[in-house]
Amino acid sequence: MAANYTGNCSMIGGLSRTDTAGSQLNTNVLVTGAGGQLGRELQRAAPEGMTLCALARADLDLADAEAVDTALAELSPGVVINAAAYTAVDRAESEIERAHAGNVTGPANLALACARRGARLIHVSTDFVFDGQAGSPYTPDQATGPVSEYGRSKLAGELAVRDALPDALIVRTAWVYSAFGGNFVKTMLRLMGERDELGVVADQVGTPTWAAGLAQMLWTAAQTELGGTYHWSDAGACSWYDFACAISEEGQALGLLDSDTHIRPLTTADYPTPAQRPAYSVFDKTATWRDFDVAPIQWRRQLRHMLQDLKDMENA
Ligand SMILES: NC(=O)c1ccc[n+]([C@@H]2O[C@H](COP(=O)([O-])OP(=O)(O)OC[C@H]3O[C@@H](n4cnc5c(N)ncnc54)[C@H](OP(=O)(O)O)[C@@H]3O)[C@@H](O)[C@H]2O)c1
Repeated sequence: MAANYTGNCSMIGGLSRTDTAGSQLNTNVLVTGAGGQLGRELQRAAPEGMTLCALARADLDLADAEAVDTALAELSPGVVINAAAYTAVDRAESEIERAHAGNVTGPANLALACARRGARLIHVSTDFVFDGQAGSPYTPDQATGPVSEYGRSKLAGELAVRDALPDALIVRTAWVYSAFGGNFVKTMLRLMGERDELGVVADQVGTPTWAAGLAQMLWTAAQTELGGTYHWSDAGACSWYDFACAISEEGQALGLLDSDTHIRPLTTADYPTPAQRPAYSVFDKTATWRDFDVAPIQWRRQLRHMLQDLKDMENA
């Protein structure tokens, strides 16, 4: 039976947009991995005038090269935004093949199909491509050195994308959370609702990133022709411990939590996990800000927005 991918497409708003020169912008956009945190936020943030085709894994498994090529042929997108990935960081240590299928084979298939069909590709990667030993924010051209299977698979995915499609845009991001799906913020809210005391790692430093802000940045990027590797997170830096304390305070202020949980700072050694994580993964976003004219917003402000979003969804 022939696949029908167009059933997953819709026109956002009503008007068709043109750029200042009068030519058609890249208005036909395919989002892959549309069922995840970022995929959902990309659908919510889609600008008017786009024809958006949003395919979740059930609609299109990127590890299936033939299906990917058929989808690209049928939909003829000007731009593909790949939000799909295998993101189970700890499980990746024992599920190396699955991580490879999601993070290397899938992106490679997509990049090859984009190259064949003349589509732009925006691919999303991670701070876990770095070893975390830097003492100042990572620039996109800094040496990589992943310390986990997840990080290695994502780096191999970047290389596969770059190999098939040298002009692809790769946007690395970090510590992603959203009202959709599972993530640190929602886990903390649940545990804080259940427990009087909680230990959280205080010696890993990075920057939380609200997926809604990342989605807006990617939509801005989709309307340019820029390629290369860029970094995006919210602004500022904190440890997981600081992040947890902020979730507790902001959660109580919004009425999502009704009592104070005592949060103890832990070391990484106190809280062993199957996968090693970078101790420091703050991004230098200067080039992103300059080239795309998008300014990152401070992480705690974004956290408040996400918690409000979560509350609105719960009350809807
Ligand atoms: N989450 C983070 O903290 C974080 C940090 C840094 C970078 N990133 C990157 O940000 C991007 C978005 O992450 P996210 O947080 O939105 O992840 P997510 O919520 O786990 O969503 C990923 C989506 O990709 C789908 N997927 C996995 N393998 C696929 C395949 N072979 N074909 C099609 N779809 C597939 C998943 O479907 P199933 O659920 O069915 O598997 C899921 O819906 C990813 O590139 C990730 O590596 C995330």
